[in-house]
Amino acid sequence: MARYTGGVINTGRPFSYYRKVFFNNHSKSSILANLQGKKLLDIGCGYTPYSADSMFRACFDGGIEFYGIDPIIEENITFKARDSIFTRLTGGSGRFDSNAPGVERAISAMADDLPFGDNEVDTILSCWLIFIWINKEQELLKIFTEFHRILKVGGNINLYPLPDWNSFRFKNRELKSLLNKFDFTQQFIFEPFNFQYPPTNRLTFTKNC
Ligand SMILES: C[S@@+](CC[C@H](N)C(=O)[O-])C[C@H]1O[C@@H](n2cnc3c(N)ncnc32)[C@H](O)[C@@H]1O
Repeated sequence: MARYTGGVINTGRPFSYYRKVFFNNHSKSSILANLQGKKLLDIGCGYTPYSADSMFRACFDGGIEFYGIDPIIEENITFKARDSIFTRLTGGSGRFDSNAPGVERAISAMADDLPFGDNEVDTILSCWLIFIWINKEQELLKIFTEFHRILKVGGNINLYPLPDWNSFRFKNRELKSLLNKFDFTQQFIFEPFNFQYPPTNRLTFTKNC
C-alpha cells in the first residue's frame, strides 16, 4: 500500500474532537475510565502525539496504552507554520513538542502493515483517513485484513468520516467475506454551521470471529 499524500493535511486534532466523533460526546473522565487496561491505536494520527491537548496525550497521562500510527512520524520531526495553522483551524492548540511525554508510542507505520501481534488490540480509531480508499476494494481488503489480524475478538474499529455504509455494494469476494467477520453499526454526526462536523458517519466494526 502506498502512503497517501494527495492534498494531505496532517493535523493534531484535540481530544474534544475525538470525544465528539468517536465517543458520543461523553466526558473525558468517563472515556478514560472506560479505556483503562485497554490497548488502542490511532491510525493516521497526524501530529497528535506532539500535542498536549490530544487524546494521545490524555491517554498517556492517564496510564492508557494508546499508540499513534502515521508514516509522518520520524525521530527528528520538525513542524512547519502551516501545520500549526491547520491544527488551529481544526480546533487544536497548534503547539507541538517533538519531545512530548509519551512520543515513544508514536510509531511510523502504514495502516496495512502494523507492528503489533495477532489478537492484541482492543480498539482502533482512524480519523480522516480511510475514506480515501472507500472505492478501492483491494486497499480496503489489505487494511481490514490487518485490522482483523491485530484485533481481539470483541475489539472494534472506529472510522470517521464515511458515507452511509449500507449504500456500498462491494464486489470483491474476499473483502465481503472478511467484512462478515465484523458486526457493524454507524452513527450519523452533524453540527449545522460547523465545517468541522460535516453531515457524515462514524462507523464501528466489532470483530465477531
Ligand atoms: C488527512 S490526514 C488526517 C490526520 C488526522 N488524523 C486528522 O484527523 O486530522 C491523513 C493522515 O494519514 C496519514 N497516512 C497517509 N497514508 C497512510 C497510510 N497508508 N497508513 C497510515 N497513515 C497514513 C498521513 O500522513 C496523514 O497524517
